[in-house]
Amino acid sequence: MSRNNLSARGLVRRYGGLTAVEDVNMDVPSGQITGLIGPNGAGKSTLFSLLTGVEQPDEGKVLLGQRNITRMSPDARSRRGLVQTFQVPSLFPSLTVADNLLVAAENRRRDYAGDLLGFRARGRTGALQIVDDVLASLQLEDIRESIAGTLPTGALRLVEFARALCARPDVLLLDEPASGLDAAETERFSALVRRIADDGVAILLVDHDVDLVFKVVDRVYAMVGGRVVAEGAPAAVRADPTVQSVYLAQGPLTSKNTGASPAGGPSGGGPPADSPPTGGPPAVAVSSGELR
Ligand SMILES: Nc1ncnc2c1ncn2[C@@H]1O[C@H](COP(=O)(O)OP(=O)(O)OP(=O)(O)O)[C@@H](O)[C@H]1O
Ligand SMILES: [Mg+2]
Repeated sequence: MSRNNLSARGLVRRYGGLTAVEDVNMDVPSGQITGLIGPNGAGKSTLFSLLTGVEQPDEGKVLLGQRNITRMSPDARSRRGLVQTFQVPSLFPSLTVADNLLVAAENRRRDYAGDLLGFRARGRTGALQIVDDVLASLQLEDIRESIAGTLPTGALRLVEFARALCARPDVLLLDEPASGLDAAETERFSALVRRIADDGVAILLVDHDVDLVFKVVDRVYAMVGGRVVAEGAPAAVRADPTVQSVYLAQGPLTSKNTGASPAGGPSGGGPPADSPPTGGPPAVAVSSGELR
């Protein structure tokens, strides 16, 4: 089954006098991991919200395959295969892991494509099969019956990822998916994301951990002050003079000094709690220091 790409054309989002997203074009193709980086206040979360439908653009459009989904609600997008994970996992804390996943599996394309795929006919049994397949493929069988609210951060993030997979996405939007994970968990997570992309899913990864982004993505977009200032292969974007300047202003381009904020709230739901209202590009100051 061919899957839909996600694309954005000429997106603009203004908050009063501030343009948080300015004429952004982006392509998130099937089978690839696309990264989005940028310093605090660059517009990453705002762009993410425009893609998920939490926010509406003032100008421009969002396309899922050929279909214009710009005015579609987040729920409608998700039933059509545009699925997101949240910075703070969006699980029902009092339900078991399996029941959380079942909700996602049962919601998938309930309203239209379920019939085409014979999914509705399979009903709960089909949904349970999806849950079991996803749990097995992520090696999460051990916590199948655990109450979600009792899980540690690392496990919660994997369950949040599993929840998104149970919705069988064409496009998966990952917001800070590795925040709170230790090195081993991040490694495991990166391998999983790659596997999902290899299955043909289009993945957009937004993360403060630029080392992670550069390591796992096929292409990357760098935003500063609402604009895309560089895009392309990770090595090329990493070497881009503007990207260098922005990160060198904060020290060498590593995960330790890119403003990672584990206490941040979920992106895409109103004003971000984790970003000071900067309103413009950060000061560009080139200091000594090499990219790793
Ligand atoms: N709801 C809002 N109302 C007013 N201004 C907003 C709102 N959301 C974001 N902004 C402003 O838009 C700009 C872009 O913010 P955004 O949160 O998209 O950046 P970001 O790249 O996600 O930053 P961070 O890395 O800190 O999460 C900032 O100047 C921010 O203060
Ligand atoms: Mg943000």
